[in-house]
This record gives sequence, C-alpha cells and structure tokens, in this order.
Amino acid sequence: MVTGAAQGIGLGIATRLAEEGASVILADIAHTKADAAAAGLVKQGLRVSAAPVDVADDGSVNALARRVDAEHGKCEILVNNAAIGADTHIETMTMEDYQRVIRINQDGAIRMTMTFVPLIKKAGPGRRILNIASIQGLRGWPNQIAYATAKGAIVNFTRALACDLAPHDIMVNALAPGFVDTPMSIQPDGSHEYDSDWFRDIYVKHGRIPMRRFGKPVDIAGPVFFLCSDDAQYMTGQLLSVDGGASATF
Ligand SMILES: NC(=O)c1ccc[n+]([C@@H]2O[C@H](COP(=O)([O-])OP(=O)(O)OC[C@H]3O[C@@H](n4cnc5c(N)ncnc54)[C@H](O)[C@@H]3O)[C@@H](O)[C@H]2O)c1
Repeated sequence: MVTGAAQGIGLGIATRLAEEGASVILADIAHTKADAAAAGLVKQGLRVSAAPVDVADDGSVNALARRVDAEHGKCEILVNNAAIGADTHIETMTMEDYQRVIRINQDGAIRMTMTFVPLIKKAGPGRRILNIASIQGLRGWPNQIAYATAKGAIVNFTRALACDLAPHDIMVNALAPGFVDTPMSIQPDGSHEYDSDWFRDIYVKHGRIPMRRFGKPVDIAGPVFFLCSDDAQYMTGQLLSVDGGASATF
C-alpha cells in the first residue's frame, strides 16, 4: 500500500516495489490520476491497482482498509507518502492553514497506520511500515512552519511506533528525501523551484547539495526497496536521509 502514489515519489516507490514482485495499491486522493498511473504500470505487466483515499478522512481510510481486507486479506508493506507542500510563515498563516497541513501530512500517516496495523499483523512476521519524512523534519527553513512541524513529528512517530510494533515483528522506518524533482517542486506561478537562480546558486554552485543536483523519484525508490527487503531485517525506528548529502553540510 503506497499512499500519494498517483505521481512523484509515491509513484516511483510503487513502481519499484511492483517491479520487485509486490502487488501494489496506488492510493491517492487524485483518483483519476492514480487510475491512469496504475493502468500504465499494468500495461508493463506489473501487479498494480488504484484506490481512492483521503488520508485526512476517517471514513475514507476505513473504506480503503475494508477494500484491502476483502481483496487481499492482509497488507505486507505500508508506505505513508501522501502529503502536501505549503508555504506558512508564523506571522501570516492562520490556524486553518496550519491545521490543514498537519491533518494531511502528520495525522494522515498516523490515521493510515492505526487503521492498517490489524491488516499488517494478518500478513505475518517481518512486515514493514515506511514513513516518508523530509530533511525539513530535521532542519529549519523559512516559510515552512507547518510542513516542517509535521515532518518532525513523522520522524519521532516512526521511533515511537517502532517500539510498539517490534514485539509483533513489524519494522518501522522513515526516509528523509532532500530536494526531489516532482510536481511538488512546481511553484504557484508555474515556475520550477529547481530552475530558479537562487536554487542553482545555493545548492549547485555553492554545493549546499554536495552532489550538486536535485534527486529524482527513482533515487528515493531504491532505498525504500532496501528498507522493505530481506536485507533490512534488523533495522527499526531509523531515519535514512536520501538527499545527495544536503543534510551532511550546513
Ligand atoms: N519533492 C520533494 O522535494 C520532497 C522532499 C522531501 C520530502 N518529500 C515528501 O515526499 C512525499 C511525496 O512528495 P512528492 O514530491 O512526490 O509530492 P507530490 O505532490 O508530487 O505527490 C503527493 C501525492 O499525494 C497525494 N495527496 C495529497 N493529499 C492527499 C490526501 N489527503 N490523501 C491522499 N493522497 C493525497 C497527491 O494527490 C499526490 O499524488 C511527501 O511526503 C513529501 O512531503 C518530498
């Protein structure tokens, strides 16, 4: 189960897990887009289907769990990836602006996990929950109060959840992407954040991303597969940054 899988990083993760043999559900609020993405992957011979979900809504998440139970009887891997980007400054945002981001990016992952744990337990030992955090959950950046707060919460939710679920042999980890080229990087005016002079100046010219390029969904999908694979059987409660070295510098 990959939430927010209609596009971007979620679609990259879903594609890789399906290529490795998983039967993957692309769950997204943008259900037309998710349907189209799933149809494209099915054409490539992958076992993929799409399902509508709003991770911020109890009824919608419960309906998704009932559907998974009826069609698959279990869930082996849950990837909490769905989120929205939002500029929020402490002096100008409203509580509504703030709570909208928290409801989707933070509570959404917690709601999905609470609802899916029984299905994950039904899948037997060695199962995985992977939370997509962000390097913004580790560092500050202007105009990101709500997003950074939610991502910081996802990092420590991962650790606390890992402690609760380890006795059930369910491993819980988080991955913190850096700057990844997805539709989330497109600005309200239609421009691409990574084409801007300031991005090129700070991150490329001055090496704030030591690898001097933004990431692509495929760069995230590989480490996600590793964390879900048999090669990561003794890892839980951990955060893996996949950011071209961005969090290694200052
Ligand atoms: N792109 C980056 O640079 C970057 C960096 C760090 C972390 N991330 C994280 O990676 C994840 C994926 O981001 P992305 O860049 O692919 O974003 P994206 O905007 O391209 O994709 C997000 C997907 O989530 C879906 N979604 C939004 N609200 C939803 C809801 N309420 N219920 C269900 N689905 C919902 C959207 O429809 C969309 O398909 C997010 O958690 C994001 O915070 C992204």
